[in-house]
Amino acid sequence: MTAAIQCYHACKSFKESVRKTEKAEAGSRDRRAHRRIADFILPSKVTVEAVKDVSFDVKRGEIFGILGPNGSGKSTLIRMISTLLIPDSGTVRVFGKDVVEDRLEVRRYINRVSVEAAFFKRLSATENLEYAARLYGLDPKEGLLKAKAILARLGFPNSKVDVSLENLSRGMQQKVAIARALMTAPVALLLDEPTTGLDPVSKRDVQDFVLDVRNTHDTTVILTTHDMEEADRLCDRIAVIHDGEFVALDTPENLKRQCANGNGHLPNLEEVFFRLTGRSPNEWETEGEDE
Ligand SMILES: Nc1ncnc2c1ncn2[C@@H]1O[C@H](COP(=O)(O)OP(=O)(O)OP(=O)(O)O)[C@@H](O)[C@H]1O
Ligand SMILES: [Mg+2]
Repeated sequence: MTAAIQCYHACKSFKESVRKTEKAEAGSRDRRAHRRIADFILPSKVTVEAVKDVSFDVKRGEIFGILGPNGSGKSTLIRMISTLLIPDSGTVRVFGKDVVEDRLEVRRYINRVSVEAAFFKRLSATENLEYAARLYGLDPKEGLLKAKAILARLGFPNSKVDVSLENLSRGMQQKVAIARALMTAPVALLLDEPTTGLDPVSKRDVQDFVLDVRNTHDTTVILTTHDMEEADRLCDRIAVIHDGEFVALDTPENLKRQCANGNGHLPNLEEVFFRLTGRSPNEWETEGEDE
């Protein structure tokens, strides 16, 4: 049986502009002019290998988690699968369809929720959802009804459905994004940090909803998250990505067993994460202080 999502040797690099901030040379006759010129001339391009030779298969109805530190390549991978980025090399297929050759078909299979969801910010949740329903080819009234039922289930206040999105909190906007993605019961869901910014109750509600959608519609789900408990609760298998490369891929239980230190203590997923990405909680705390 063909896997729902297949990724073989996928690679993606970006050119990033790096602006040098050296001061004008000492002794220069016109330091200000020198600095201005330096600002324009010195920016140089460096290549960032965001995803390096990543291969994996996701089975139909599976919830597949991708964990990794900030900047490790999770969103880049999700964006390649959802046809928003073209892989530099390698193949990515969704239900047998290639994300480059059969882009439009792939788009029909998938829905994506990300932390930077695009909306018409001046329009209300109702107007945005109605628009999305039309775009998805649903009866707008039916689509809206379904989306509103999802919003209610996620604890979105009914008094806010007609308020402009720009005046809603980030968590509320996130709920509208989730309702929009789930109104069509897609066969594949790509969830890039779907619960970031949500309060603990809403987080639980979203998690339950994802499990429910998978259980009732056999939806295939790829999920990225920084919440280890969430990953443990939802994911059938988890890949850990570090500097663009998969460093582990297994069930949560097997990952814990692999990282056990032999004294009978089975680590939790957070400890597994620290071990596999070579970082300790202390290092993270120190980094935070620098910012
Ligand atoms: N459009 C872009 N142009 C240039 N560089 C990019 C672009 N998108 C991502 N990158 C770089 O690619 C690398 C991976 O970024 P990506 O957004 O995939 O990380 P991530 O794992 O999703 O991180 P986070 O946990 O912070 O969301 C980073 O070094 C990032 O700076
Ligand atoms: Mg990301």
